[in-house]
Amino acid sequence: MSRLVFEDLVLEYEVDEGAVRSVDGVSMELPEGKVTALIGESGSGKTTLSNAVLRLLAPNARVRRGRILFDGVDVLGLGPEEVRRFRWHRASLVFQAAQSAFNPTLTLGEQLRDAVADHGQDPQRPPFPERIQELLAMVRLDPARVLPAWPHQLSGGMRQRVAIAMALVLHPQLLILDEPTTALDLITQSYVQDILQQVHLKTGVTMLFITHDLAAVARLADFVGVMYGGRLVEFAPAESVLRHPRHPYSRALLASVPRVDGKGGTRARGALRAPDLLNPSPGCNFAPGCPRVMKRCEQERPALEDGVACFRPEGEP
Ligand SMILES: Nc1ncnc2c1ncn2[C@@H]1O[C@H](COP(=O)(O)OP(=O)(O)OP(=O)(O)O)[C@@H](O)[C@H]1O
Ligand SMILES: [Mg+2]
Repeated sequence: MSRLVFEDLVLEYEVDEGAVRSVDGVSMELPEGKVTALIGESGSGKTTLSNAVLRLLAPNARVRRGRILFDGVDVLGLGPEEVRRFRWHRASLVFQAAQSAFNPTLTLGEQLRDAVADHGQDPQRPPFPERIQELLAMVRLDPARVLPAWPHQLSGGMRQRVAIAMALVLHPQLLILDEPTTALDLITQSYVQDILQQVHLKTGVTMLFITHDLAAVARLADFVGVMYGGRLVEFAPAESVLRHPRHPYSRALLASVPRVDGKGGTRARGALRAPDLLNPSPGCNFAPGCPRVMKRCEQERPALEDGVACFRPEGEP
């Protein structure tokens, strides 16, 4: 049994025009000890889905239906104190702007120790001083240099690596990475991805890795989930999704991004039409733009079966 299970999760944001259905009936079991990449165009609900796990949703978000089970307990039902204990101990998040979220008036050492103290542990006592050193070394930083430094004395990439070390300090079983390298330059992106790969090998932590970078997916991910308009349209081993995407949307998404080998990239990402989240379709929400659409697709919503939510997947007549 997987540790993190989404069961028919429906999340909406209340806005003046109505309700924006950002997560629309997602059911998924996150493979334990593996790296799962979550891909899909901007606005497809990746951040909403992952923030829900850590109970970090905006105040106008509403849970309409479903559960998020972590070791069998619905995190959506946790009280404030339980949420506090869940974060960092069980699951942590590194987001794109984490590198800018450090307090400029405290050294990084103080902030790492505060993070431990905030979660009810004594940072001066074993195992922490050593654990902090060990984690900094794992993200290839020199503790002697980083611990006394102020945030502004490190580069963005170095700060992002401190954020990764910090997220791991209380031994969480799950690490969510929401576009962790997007704000960095290309060389640094690649270096941080390399570090994430090492961190995964060394700690075995389950990773949910949200990204637009397919090269990073190819490099890091064991499994890939593809989201479109709040729905999980495909979930399968990474190689299978990358080489033989079965949902027509996955195929269009992969074709829209230039590949490392220079093939593809003929179709601009903007050519994919975004579904109307204020009025979710009763059928498949990709039907209006789908080259393989049938009558049934407009009326009936396909469930995720054998890793794909489609009545007529690619590769079948
Ligand atoms: N607080 C909010 N109020 C209203 N709508 C919101 C709110 N936050 C997000 N949304 C909408 O919910 C949808 C999903 O957003 P989300 O940020 O989860 O997408 P995403 O897949 O993470 O996109 P990106 O790749 O750009 O990060 C979008 O249509 C977005 O505009
Ligand atoms: Mg996002």
